Amino acid sequence: MGERLEGRLKGVKAVITGGAGAIGLATARAFLRESGSVFVTDVDPGAVDEAVASLAPEAEASGATVAGGAADVRSPAEVRALMRGAAARLGGLNALINNAGANVRSLLVDYSEADIDLILDVNVKGVILCSQAAAPLIRESGGGSITSTSSQAGRRGWDHSTVYGASKAAVIGLSRAMAVELAPEIRVNSVCPGHVRDTGMAWRTFRDRKAASQTMEEFGDAFAREFVPLKRLQTADDIAAGFVFLTSGEAREITGAVLNIGGGVFMD
Ligand SMILES: NC(=O)c1ccc[n+]([C@@H]2O[C@H](COP(=O)([O-])OP(=O)(O)OC[C@H]3O[C@@H](n4cnc5c(N)ncnc54)[C@H](O)[C@@H]3O)[C@@H](O)[C@H]2O)c1
Repeated sequence: MGERLEGRLKGVKAVITGGAGAIGLATARAFLRESGSVFVTDVDPGAVDEAVASLAPEAEASGATVAGGAADVRSPAEVRALMRGAAARLGGLNALINNAGANVRSLLVDYSEADIDLILDVNVKGVILCSQAAAPLIRESGGGSITSTSSQAGRRGWDHSTVYGASKAAVIGLSRAMAVELAPEIRVNSVCPGHVRDTGMAWRTFRDRKAASQTMEEFGDAFAREFVPLKRLQTADDIAAGFVFLTSGEAREITGAVLNIGGGVFMD
């Protein structure tokens, strides 16, 4: 058997929330390909098991570990138990990817209180709780990084996205404050995906906007031609590449940064 090549995340032990979803699963796969070990977590235990099973070939090829467990990021007790369990299973913890997210599209005047609570609890409180539980474990393991999924919606206004936009702007503010507070042992950054092809979140936005005669793909391509300088939508792998970079040693001097991965749809 040939010698294994060492990837950019050799020795990294990461928890990835929302790990059964489109971007989370692609990120777990990219981490394993770069020799990083991953603990995948999501709210549904069946989905976590499926995600872990689907990642077995990459883990086998790289010699890194893949494991998983379910938790609701809104529950402090579940999150604390999950982070401790993940660190025990991986033999330490030095990276957290806060990627679980929820959205309900609505006009501001029509939002129900339940939907406001859901979006803010998953997207903001969830990031706070996971970071709070992971930070001491990352410090104990000698330091590392926390990277969270924000959105273009956190940086510019979109209709039907007031609460989601507020939650994703909060992720950036939170990450910048954590970057100051958790330095120098822990770097903290966020990633803003554009519209990611074939994902529930982007597709739900397009479903509301497209003409009845258009397919999602046709609308997506037309949207990209009109609004995205690079003229294409992003893929989950494009976003995963940003997480790999910000977690890797190549980003050792980067903290408090916001990385746009949206083909130029928003540049600030
Ligand atoms: N798809 C896009 O175009 C896009 C664009 C910008 C930002 N984002 C953000 O990217 C992240 C990943 O989204 P995605 O596109 O992969 O969508 P997705 O729906 O496939 O993944 C989100 C995951 O979060 C999990 N989740 C939701 N509530 C949870 C909870 N309470 N506890 C634990 N897990 C929970 C879901 O089960 C799901 O697996 C989200 O934070 C989303 O807001 C996505």
